[in-house]
Amino acid sequence: MGRHALGVPPKKRMQKKFADALSLLYSVFSITKTTHFTTMSCCNASTTRPDLHDLSKRINPEEKRLVNCKQVDVNQLMPLKYQWAWEYYIKGCANHWMPNEVPMQSDIELWKSNRLTTQERHVIMRNLGFFSTAESLVGNNIVLAIFKHITNPEARQYLLRQAFEEAIHTHTFQYIVESLSLDQREVFNMYHEVNSIHDKDAFEMTLTSAIMEEGFSTETTEGLQTFLKNLVGFYVIMEGVFFYSGFVMLLSFKRQNKMIGVGQQFEYIMRDESIHLNFGIDLINGIRSENPEAWTPQLEQEVREMIKKAVELEVAYAEDCMPRGILGLNATLFRDYVQYIADRRFDRLNMPLEYGSKNPFPWMSEVTDLSKEQNFFERKVTEYQKAASLEW
Ligand SMILES: [Fe+2]
Ligand SMILES: [Fe+2]
Repeated sequence: MGRHALGVPPKKRMQKKFADALSLLYSVFSITKTTHFTTMSCCNASTTRPDLHDLSKRINPEEKRLVNCKQVDVNQLMPLKYQWAWEYYIKGCANHWMPNEVPMQSDIELWKSNRLTTQERHVIMRNLGFFSTAESLVGNNIVLAIFKHITNPEARQYLLRQAFEEAIHTHTFQYIVESLSLDQREVFNMYHEVNSIHDKDAFEMTLTSAIMEEGFSTETTEGLQTFLKNLVGFYVIMEGVFFYSGFVMLLSFKRQNKMIGVGQQFEYIMRDESIHLNFGIDLINGIRSENPEAWTPQLEQEVREMIKKAVELEVAYAEDCMPRGILGLNATLFRDYVQYIADRRFDRLNMPLEYGSKNPFPWMSEVTDLSKEQNFFERKVTEYQKAASLEW
């Protein structure tokens, strides 16, 4: 191709590309050229041209709000107001991992052998089926329902990190399915085809669609209450209740030296999820304290009923995964465990406990208490964020 094969000199082409990129930026942020970056849809809606050297236009971090913020520009991260949100972002980055770094050879050999029982295979398949689509539901809810309505840049910074982690988690199930040569359609269709999985996901999907209805706004009390129920549904219920029977089941295999690659992947997912859960609860409690009129006794009762319903759905899921006991686990233990987990979530939401059940799996805390572990592929010790102080 000659120098001017496109008929336009390189310098002109560069200028055109720049103009095109600027025009795209204008359209994305609803900025008009004549108002010089003042009419962003997400912040101060003044239409007068500002004095570009006016220091009084600098943001006051105290005016930042988690939702419905009109006073400050959501594109300016610093100065921070919500240090906790930034710290969650740093913790998430410090735990970075990729599923295809985990060796799967021993899992492949075991899966192809006759050393796994039919019930054990059933438990593994059910959990791959549930998690493979649940991770996508969570990622899509962040991007489509939550992100737009969070008006604080440090909280958005964490949401961007979390959305990427959910993509990594979905990738994990693609990697496991491919490694074990499983039927992709069977695994990724279980949320349509298996009642106990469908019921959990349907519960979540109605919460996403409520936010996506035309005309939805968090500026009314009713709208903000709907938004809070979405946050409870995804952070407290999906990531804080619906994931936990699966964590116990797959980590139980690893404790018995079975399916250790899959178990390792679940350990990393659980570590990420404990941070998601804690961020979500801090976000909910932060919105509550800034908007006390929204968290009415009636809303609190609705939240309690949502979590109680989730406990029943999760117990039904555990029974479906495990109609007969295996690996020292059985459905009765899962009822106690799910109720115990739900009580911990009520406590973090500053709500009275519901069940008073004891934890039948105290070993689960050890998994999240690891601060260092042998790196699984390069035999070097890797520092991970200590998760002992986190809710799990
Ligand atoms: Fe996830
Ligand atoms: Fe998550």
